Amino acid sequence: MEVKNAEGIEKVYDYLNDAQTYYLATIDEGKPRVRPFGTILLDDGKLYIQTGRSKNVSRQIAANPFVEICACMGASWLRIQAELVEDNNREVKVKMLDKMPSLKAMYSPDDDNTQMFYLKDATATFSSFTEEPRTIQF
Ligand SMILES: Cc1cc2nc3c(=O)[nH]c(=O)nc-3n(C[C@H](O)[C@H](O)[C@H](O)COP(=O)(O)O)c2cc1C
Repeated sequence: MEVKNAEGIEKVYDYLNDAQTYYLATIDEGKPRVRPFGTILLDDGKLYIQTGRSKNVSRQIAANPFVEICACMGASWLRIQAELVEDNNREVKVKMLDKMPSLKAMYSPDDDNTQMFYLKDATATFSSFTEEPRTIQF
C-alpha cells in the first residue's frame, strides 16, 4: 500500500523520533559507509537531518547525495531512500539545535560547520515480520 501526503512524512518523522537512532548509509568512492545518526526535524513539510561539514559523511554526501536510512524498533523496521539537499537557512539550524540541545556543545547556527539537509524524492518503507510492507513517498 502506498501513501502520498503530509500524513506520510509525519509517520516517518514519528518513527525516527521514537527510534532515537537510525543508520545513515552513503557511498564513498563506490564503497558503502554507514554510521549511527539521531538528528531529525520536521519543519515546513520537510524532513531534516544534521551533520558537520568537517565529517567524512558530509564529504561523501557532497560527492553523491543519494543515501539510505534504516531504523528499527522491536520487530519493525523502516528504510528510506532519498536524495539529500543542503539547506543553509539559519532558522532550521536554530530549530534543530533547540530540539536537541545536547548538540549545542558542538554546534551553533552561526559556525561554519553545522550543516542541514532535507530528504528529497524519498521512498520510505515500513516493514515488520507480521504485516505487509507499507511504502510512503514524500
Ligand atoms: C546515537 C548516535 C547518534 C548520532 N547522531 C549523529 C547525527 O545526527 N549527526 C552526526 O553528524 N553525527 C551523529 N553521530 C556521530 C556519527 O555517527 C559519527 O560522527 C560518525 O563517525 C560520522 O560518520 P563519518 O565518520 O563517516 O563521517 C551520532 C552517533 C551516535 C552514537
